Amino acid sequence: MTARGPQPLHIGDLTASLPIIQGGMGVGVSLSRLASAVANEGGIGVIATAGIGMIEADLFKNFLAANTRALRNEIRRARELSTGILGVNIMVALSNFGELVKTALDEQIDIIFSGAGLPLDLPRFRRGNDRTKLVPIVSSGRAARIVAKRWTERYDYPPDAVVVEGPLAGGHLGFKPEQIGDPAHALTSLLPEVLREIAPFEAHARRPIPVIAGGGIYTGADIYRFLQLGAAGVQMATRFVTTHECDAAASFKDAYIRATPEDIVIIKSPVGMPGRAIRNRFLEDVGAGKRMPFTCHTTVSSPAIISTPPTASPWRSSTPSEGACTTASPLRAKTLIGQRKSSRSKIWWRRCWTSTARRQADPQRPGPPEAADSPRRRDGRRLGAWLSSRERGADARG
Ligand SMILES: Cc1cc2nc3c(=O)[nH]c(=O)nc-3n(C[C@H](O)[C@H](O)[C@H](O)COP(=O)(O)O)c2cc1C
Repeated sequence: MTARGPQPLHIGDLTASLPIIQGGMGVGVSLSRLASAVANEGGIGVIATAGIGMIEADLFKNFLAANTRALRNEIRRARELSTGILGVNIMVALSNFGELVKTALDEQIDIIFSGAGLPLDLPRFRRGNDRTKLVPIVSSGRAARIVAKRWTERYDYPPDAVVVEGPLAGGHLGFKPEQIGDPAHALTSLLPEVLREIAPFEAHARRPIPVIAGGGIYTGADIYRFLQLGAAGVQMATRFVTTHECDAAASFKDAYIRATPEDIVIIKSPVGMPGRAIRNRFLEDVGAGKRMPFTCHTTVSSPAIISTPPTASPWRSSTPSEGACTTASPLRAKTLIGQRKSSRSKIWWRRCWTSTARRQADPQRPGPPEAADSPRRRDGRRLGAWLSSRERGADARG
């Protein structure tokens, strides 16, 4: 690492100039538009496959075909929009896991990320000439070891990289409720654990197995911290929801922007895992024991989707203008991670980065207000004021 910025992220023969992976967000939140925007800026853009068939008219008649077709189309669309690195996220919990993996391989996607369960047999789908990289998402050193051992012993294919996701992540969490606030399970503890467990497999692989940290990473200073702790990159998802390019509907983005720390709750999701969600009337009614009439559209429901106001569609807006939030000006993904300089100044994370790096060199140097006092750090996820202050340029510091 240098004071000017982080090292690129190498996953096999792929090189992302920015070590930032946009975490897959299911049920239409990260599709081709967001993934390609992130990839165009040098990060790794990820299309989520959970519920992807919802954008097809015949989902209820042809569940498998609709999901497969939607994935194929989204990958192709993203390829048209970007020559950067593109991945797909395929949750083990999905009933059509195998179909989606085969489709992604057929389309020669760069990377498959797979979590929400241990993807013990993911390499089984690889054919000899596939160049697609396979990356498990785990929540402990033990899970990393189990997956790496299985892939190595059974398939002679150690993981190309590993994502370790801590308990501060949005969406489903791979933790028991009592572990969520336990420092032993904090990402800062899990990352060294995973690095330790994965190291022996690098010898067998005869290549590095980068470990990527995710969950609650939000600012340049956060990124810096986890790279300093040994991560080769970071995975971030929530941070991208309120971008113009995010494929979700404006009302979904608005729910994030309006959310206050008190609105963020841990729920038991329908797939039986705890999940971090935004409180709304639906959750309150279910919590009060009322049964809500609804149709289960997908094999899995993301808690963040459950947190959508019941009247809102989380899916892609039909026109670009609908994709803009109404309550505050959202960022462009390019502004968030782009390497191009914006007219106002440098991009946000590079500002934080440089400032954090300088402070490391000179501890007396005052830090950016953000490091101690951002709404995110102070009280969770109150995004609106922070985002809009950035948009007004009030945040041109560091
Ligand atoms: C709205 C939303 C939907 C998500 N959907 C998925 C998903 O379909 N599959 C998955 O493995 N992770 C999913 N995640 C988790 C993200 O990919 C990512 O790992 C995690 O959110 C990182 O934490 P952060 O949101 O604090 O950056 C989702 C997260 C959010 C916020």
